Amino acid sequence: MNGYNLIARYYLFFVKLVFGDLLFKVQTHFLTKDIDPQQILIVGGGRGELLSFCLNQYPTTRITYVDSSSKMIELSEKRVSIQDQKRIDFQCKSIFEWDTNQTFDLVLLPFVLDLFSEIKCHALLRKTKAILHKEGSLIVADFSKNPAKFQKALVGLMYLLFNSVGATERSKLPEFYALFAAEQLSIFKEKKLGLGPYQDLVLTFQLTLC
Ligand SMILES: C[S@@+](CC[C@H](N)C(=O)[O-])C[C@H]1O[C@@H](n2cnc3c(N)ncnc32)[C@H](O)[C@@H]1O
Repeated sequence: MNGYNLIARYYLFFVKLVFGDLLFKVQTHFLTKDIDPQQILIVGGGRGELLSFCLNQYPTTRITYVDSSSKMIELSEKRVSIQDQKRIDFQCKSIFEWDTNQTFDLVLLPFVLDLFSEIKCHALLRKTKAILHKEGSLIVADFSKNPAKFQKALVGLMYLLFNSVGATERSKLPEFYALFAAEQLSIFKEKKLGLGPYQDLVLTFQLTLC
């Protein structure tokens, strides 16, 4: 999915224009000060907004940042202070090709499961489970499947646009609950966010190993 090199420059502008801060809020909802992760893995973090948040929120945590788009990585790197660079391992690779011996106590999948084919969604969750500490958490943020016509049209339009630039492998949202159940991940917490026409448009899950 190299489409992200094409859209990287405009991606955040588009997101803010359409959704305001909603997508950022849902990605960070469970990232509270009271958790103290030692090692975070961020997959598909995009232009680095979430990365900056994690660096500020957890000042001693080490972060591995895997994104397949060189442009997204370049833009994310620019946001990081020289001091913080030591804490980040940038990996410009597809998550399916990236390998590690490390384990993580927090893995973040921010608006990425909605990109991959069904088979790859399962593969990604299995990979995540394999590198997650026994007591660790996986946090997924994504769009929720709502019956409201406006929201269905909005999500449909996004898939149309993303498909046209080769930025997704699917045309509708995954069935998150079935996916997590099949991969034996327990939902520890979940929260929907969004108001007005965006009522409950996005959701986040904190998942643990069964
Ligand atoms: C929809 S964007 C989400 C960006 C960011 N998480 C956000 O919410 O603003 C998906 C991100 O996943 C990255 N990506 C796509 N396929 C990937 C893969 N196979 N491995 C790692 N990253 C990937 C893209 O480059 C892009 O940065």
